[in-house]
Amino acid sequence: MEFHHQPVLLQEVLEALQVREDGVYVDGTAGGGSHSAAIASRLTTGRLIALDRDPDAIKAASQKLAPYPQAQVVRANFDQMDSVLQSLGIDGADGILMDLGVSSHQLDTPERGFSYHNDAPLDMRMSQEGRSAKDLVNGLEADELSRIFFDYGEERYARSIARAIVKARQEAPIETTLQLADIIKYAMPPAARREQGHPARRCFQALRIAVNGELDHLEQGLVHAFSCLKEGGRMAIITFHSLEDRMVKRQFAKWAKGCICPPDFPVCVCGHKPEATLVWRKAVEASPEELEQNPRSRSAKLRAIVKTTTG
Ligand SMILES: C[S@@+](CC[C@H](N)C(=O)[O-])C[C@H]1O[C@@H](n2cnc3c(N)ncnc32)[C@H](O)[C@@H]1O
Ligand SMILES: [Zn+2]
Repeated sequence: MEFHHQPVLLQEVLEALQVREDGVYVDGTAGGGSHSAAIASRLTTGRLIALDRDPDAIKAASQKLAPYPQAQVVRANFDQMDSVLQSLGIDGADGILMDLGVSSHQLDTPERGFSYHNDAPLDMRMSQEGRSAKDLVNGLEADELSRIFFDYGEERYARSIARAIVKARQEAPIETTLQLADIIKYAMPPAARREQGHPARRCFQALRIAVNGELDHLEQGLVHAFSCLKEGGRMAIITFHSLEDRMVKRQFAKWAKGCICPPDFPVCVCGHKPEATLVWRKAVEASPEELEQNPRSRSAKLRAIVKTTTG
């Protein structure tokens, strides 16, 4: 199997991580291994540990990284990064990358059920285990479905879509991506159906986030990854939607601020020092050249920090 993945914001990631040839690096989202390969090719005595929760990604990344003995691929959720590194006898990382969300391969493989462009069983599980999109769509109450579509997809018609799903499944279970996409589409007012982009886009994103527990894993993953960083170590995160970016932005700001005193305190009494500095004040986005070459970079945002050196 071959992944056709153009690594997003690659030059910017390399600038953020400042890869040292003898350093220890972790790619928490190996995918097709393109970012990983770029890091591994800069190592001599260093090491790269590439994680992914998707067995297909593990195969693809292993193939891509085969020429680099410095690289090791491990199937794991990135929120387990600390225990993975411990089990490998690694006591800290000089750089950590997470390129979040769904890979081109996951999207472009119809059987994985991520896409509303091809008919396929409703699945969407990155790890290929646990509850699928079909289970959620056929099993959750209308209120829960509506909350998912609204909270994770910012879908205006969340309630009517959820009601339409419940009505449709009373006849027969909803089995496929196109069946669901049609129900979503016809639950919207005609004018909304004709707006730019596919009408099922926001609900599909929302379901994917729910099926994969993406925000929970990210919240945990950030904290665990930071705990794995050595002093002076660097962490770079690429997000693809505002919910993820907000989480990364807030967590980075918290580490960079240090002080946890209430905002109305005239002086700091908590004594907490900043734990990190931001590499860029604002998120970095794809250049016009990259946008032209790779439309999937359109919503990508990169943020990076450096862990403070205390000694
Ligand atoms: C955008 S792709 C990464 C592409 C990769 N940077 C490359 O160069 O090919 C995101 C990958 O992260 C994986 N992923 C998402 N959430 C994860 C998590 N919590 N733990 C481990 N892997 C995760 C997905 O399975 C997917 O393969
Ligand atoms: Zn304080």
